[in-house]
Amino acid sequence: MTDISDRKKAEEKLTALAGKLEFRNRELEQFAFIAAHDLQEPLRKIMAFGERLGTKYREKLDEEGKDYLIRILNASKRMQQFIRDLIKYTRVAARPEPLDTVDLREAVMEVISDLEIKTERVGANIEVFELPAVKGEKSQIRQLFQNLIANALKFHGEEQSHIRIYSRPTDHDCPIFVEDNGIGFDEKYLDRIFVPFQRLHGKSAYEGTGMGLAICRKIVERHGGSITAKSKPGEGSTFIITLPLECN
Ligand SMILES: Nc1ncnc2c1ncn2[C@@H]1O[C@H](COP(=O)(O)OP(=O)(O)OP(=O)(O)O)[C@@H](O)[C@H]1O
Ligand SMILES: [Mg+2]
Repeated sequence: MTDISDRKKAEEKLTALAGKLEFRNRELEQFAFIAAHDLQEPLRKIMAFGERLGTKYREKLDEEGKDYLIRILNASKRMQQFIRDLIKYTRVAARPEPLDTVDLREAVMEVISDLEIKTERVGANIEVFELPAVKGEKSQIRQLFQNLIANALKFHGEEQSHIRIYSRPTDHDCPIFVEDNGIGFDEKYLDRIFVPFQRLHGKSAYEGTGMGLAICRKIVERHGGSITAKSKPGEGSTFIITLPLECN
């Protein structure tokens, strides 16, 4: 009798703690959102006056002065992108609402059409095979595949870029694979790539802020799924996603 009531008490304590943690988490995210949002205004001012300085006083600045100004403006643009990505990250809602039936193949085809210009520039060949219907928020599912396919295009190797998107249904789930033959990465950094602002390849060679995969992980986790990857330097990468299936 006491055993059961003790266990019940312990369970209640755990539930209360989990609730508190969830609340604190949400508070922190709200804080990050507000901070990022409010940082935009002074930054806009820095950029606007920087640009004005460049147009109105260009002749008065010597070469060194012009160089400083260009650096200020480039750093501001980069900061603006960081802030925008941070806002995007904090906006992935706690529980995606409403949950729709998303035809994954259709969503992926739409993303590919949005990425057409990038695909042409890289000269990539993208193949999409049969994909399941999933339960989710369509805009988030699209964002997920947009980030993964954009990465596959960006981190292409020397040979022609091939990207394949397919699924391998098992008895209990249906993992989805986004595979490329690009530059790849060392799997010992696997945990790092899903963390906000973490990148393995230099910003001078590949543009970006390092938020794409952090957003992907947040989206799949909020859908009750998971994301991981397999890769080796020089041998391409495969990102593996599981999402709740429509039929479950
Ligand atoms: N398909 C891939 N092939 C090789 N490396 C990758 C691939 N996808 C991601 N990475 C590595 O993981 C890092 C994190 O990826 P992520 O998408 O979060 O950032 P990003 O693409 O650099 O910037 P952003 O997505 O914000 O534009 C990348 O900088 C890169 O080093
Ligand atoms: Mg990216």
